[in-house]
Order: sequence, then structure tokens, then C-alpha cells
Amino acid sequence: MGSIALLEKKPHAVCVPAAAQGHINPMLKLAKLLHHNGFHITFVNTEFNHRRWLKSRGPDALNGLPDFQFKAIPDGLPPSDVDATQDIPTLFESVDRTCLGPFRELLAELNDTSSSKVPPVSCIVSDAITSFTLAAAEELSIPEVHFWTASACSYLGFFQYAKLMEKGIIPLKDASYLTNGYLDTVLDWIPELEGIRLKDLPSFLRTTNPDDFMVKFVLQETQRARKASAIIINTYQQLEHGVLDALSSFLPPIYTIGPLHFLDNHVHDKSLTDIQSNLWKEEPECLEWLDSKDPNSVVYVNFGSIAVMTPEQLVEFAWGLANSKQNFLWILRPDLVSGSSAILPSEFLEETKERSMFAGWCPQEKVLSHPAVGGFLTHSGWNSTIESISYGVPMICWPFFADQQTNCWFCCTKWGIGMEIDNNVKRDEVEGLVSELMAGEKGKEMKKKAMDWKKLAETAVTDSNLNLENLIHQVLLNPSI
Ligand code: UDX
Repeated sequence: MGSIALLEKKPHAVCVPAAAQGHINPMLKLAKLLHHNGFHITFVNTEFNHRRWLKSRGPDALNGLPDFQFKAIPDGLPPSDVDATQDIPTLFESVDRTCLGPFRELLAELNDTSSSKVPPVSCIVSDAITSFTLAAAEELSIPEVHFWTASACSYLGFFQYAKLMEKGIIPLKDASYLTNGYLDTVLDWIPELEGIRLKDLPSFLRTTNPDDFMVKFVLQETQRARKASAIIINTYQQLEHGVLDALSSFLPPIYTIGPLHFLDNHVHDKSLTDIQSNLWKEEPECLEWLDSKDPNSVVYVNFGSIAVMTPEQLVEFAWGLANSKQNFLWILRPDLVSGSSAILPSEFLEETKERSMFAGWCPQEKVLSHPAVGGFLTHSGWNSTIESISYGVPMICWPFFADQQTNCWFCCTKWGIGMEIDNNVKRDEVEGLVSELMAGEKGKEMKKKAMDWKKLAETAVTDSNLNLENLIHQVLLNPSI
């Protein structure tokens, strides 16, 4: 805590996550670390997620502590009772267009000395894709740090959008370019991403619309990142050093603070560890089931909080898993299948009943760190990827959207811990890859590599703690920034 204890007033960080599970989780971990280091925290949810959070974790879940409070602002969308992931482009457009006003009002309320019992807001820690907050930080003349919650490699990928437009590569000329092999074009001009195919770059570029909101949003957010006081990334040097060097050449100072869940595991204050951010109810029974299985004998299957698939794709995954003859734990999020609930063939359920376990949501970190788990069939979301890396679990990657394609490319071609499944998934390919992952030579090599990355992740904690301390003293407590 160092010199913070000597300050007259506690520093007060307002933490603003992007309104999705994969962003809320790392922001909450970071907020807890800042609190542990002496900060007063205001954590800002959207009202929609605030309600979902209370629903999944109980009415007292967001009572917080006197110096760790939760606030909510509207996301600007019409009220909805649906308890599911919101449509991402619609949500991000609405947040970007409407949230600055309510956010300013919240800051004014927190800073109102006549009624507020909290110290004045001294810095903002905002998700790098909720940069509407920059204007408010500038008005208050306080530092604003951007937290890029995904991988550094995908961030570098997003920074290529302007160049891709300049070169006339995007937007795509017409819809045939999505299927005619154009996305397989190999790009050799991006330092640190040499040899990457267009389809391995973050997926929002797959559009023919010159006014596509997500492309414009990427351009805006990557531009605004240059105005932040600093950038935090949930990664570690050894894993992404080349990419981090490339980003450092044009961005404000970067502080790698990762794997964040390892640092967070060192916060032992129970009142804080009790605050958990899953928006779905976890089903811990799957841990008991894992206890009954041999080491490295289970494939864990989970596609995160946003990815959706068709009923046909679900059935292909199912038969691929069945035919591989491996044990598997499959998390079927209630809204995983587009347009219907996940219906699995009864013959499949019958055939696999001795070696399968299903749940709607699970405590993922506990699952990935369980000795029974030998491989992970994943959508390559960054939290899932870095959690898997740091527990030494190799992956089969079925990237869905956004940063996931780039994470997959790095897992498969750079880090040696992944094998990609074609987007148009077929049962034979699933069977082959799952068998290879769990019992083949390549699977063994990947496991070995994954264990090497795990060791490096563990040793990276020391540097990450130091980076956190430096971030606090060089940026967050530095009003001149
Ligand atoms: C999204 C994007 O998809 C991802 O690519 C981006 O990097 C962050 O936002 P999401 O799709 O949910 O996230 O995937 P991921 O990044 O893997 O985050 C999921 C989080 O939920 C992880 O922290 C994981 O541990 C947790 N989780 C997931 C559970 O605790 N239980 C589950 O059953 C599933």
C-alpha cells in the first residue's frame, strides 16, 4: 500500500467495464486489486447487468463495502426482461451514444461535497471500448486509464483496421468475398503479425457496408486509446512481448497486469472475494463429477457468454464428442443455440451417459484448474484463453467473433497450444481433433507447451504486481498526467 496510507484522502477510482460478462469479470478483478491497494472503488454497471447480477447472485450481492460500491447507469436501450446476452453492436452503439450524460451525473453526485460521503473521484479506469468516459475525465482533469481486457495480439489486430481501409482491403467489395477465399489472403506487412490471414484478424472487418457501426467503432476506440493516460492489458510479457513492443511504439504507456486471476487469487479479504461477477448461476455439481474422473481424462467444452451456434452445429459437436469416446463436461448456456433451446439427440445422451456431464454455467477457473481436465474445446474468448494457458490446458479453438479469431491464430501458430476447428463444424473433424488432443502425439506436445506457459504465467505474477504498483504511483495517483 506504501505511500497511499499517508494520503489525506483515499484515492477514488471509478471503474467502468464494457457491459458484457467477458469484460465485467476482469474489471472486477482489477477493481478488487486497486481496493486492496488502498483505493475507494465505485464500480459502474449498466442497469440491465446490475439487475441480472442481483438475479443470479442474490439481492445482497451488490451491497459492496463502505469503500467498494456499485452504481448503475442506463445503457440507453429499451427496458427488457430477457435474461440473456444483449446484441453486441446494438448495445455498444447505444452505450457510446447515450452513456456520457448519465455518467457525468454520477460523477457529479459522487463529487458533491454537500451530500456525498465518499472521497472525490481521483481517476477513471475505463474499458478500452467504453471510451465515452474520456470526455468526463478531461472535464475533471483526472487521469483516465484504459483497460484492454483482451489479448495484446488482438489489440494489435484491431489497430490494423485504418490501414486495411486505406489499402482498400475493407470493406469487402461484395458478399461473395465472405466465401470466395478472399479472407484466406495472407498479409505480410503487419509487424509481429506476419503471415496472418485476413480471417485471423478481429472479425468485425467481415462487412461490405462502408458505414458499418462496428468498423467505425473500432476506428474510434483505437484512436481514442491514444488519449488515455495509460493502457492496462491482462497478459504477460513472456507470452506477448513482440506484440507488446509493437503496441508500445504508438500507444501511451502499457502496463501488463496478468494473468489477472492469479493476482486476484492473492487478495484474501473475504468481504471482497465474496463479490463474484457471474451473470448466470454457477452449477458447482460439475466439480464433484470431475473429482470422480482420472487426471487429464476430461474434455471441457464451453463457448463463453456471447457465442451462439445453430442447432445443426450443436448436433455436429455432440456426435464428434460422442465418437471420440472421451469423457466430457459440456456447458450449455441457456441462450447458446440461436433461436431455440439446446436440444441434444436422445441417442447421443444415451450413448454418452457414463462419460458426460452437462451444466448451464460453471465456476470456470475451478474447472480449468481441476486435475481431471485435459483439454478445452473453446470459442477462444480471451479470458478463457488466458485462464486455460495459466492452468496448462491445451485447446481446440472454434472462434466465434471479435478478438477470438486472433487469439486462436496465436494459440495455434505461435504458442503451440491450440488446434482450430473449421467454422463450418463437422462431427468427423471434432472427433479427430478431440482424439488427437486427448490421446495423440500432437496433443502430448501441446500439453507440454501449455505446461511451459503455465510456469511462465506463474512467474509473471511478480512483474505484474510491480506493474500494478507502478501504474498506481506513476499514473493513478499522479494528477499532472
Ligand atoms: C467476450 C468475448 O467473447 C471475448 O473474446 C473477449 O475477449 C471478452 O468478451 P466471452 O465470450 O464471454 O467474452 O468469453 P471469455 O473472454 O472467455 O470470458 C468468459 C468469462 O466467463 C471467463 O472469465 C470465464 O471464466 C467465465 N465463465 C464462462 C464462467 O465462469 N463460467 C462459464 O460457464 C463460462
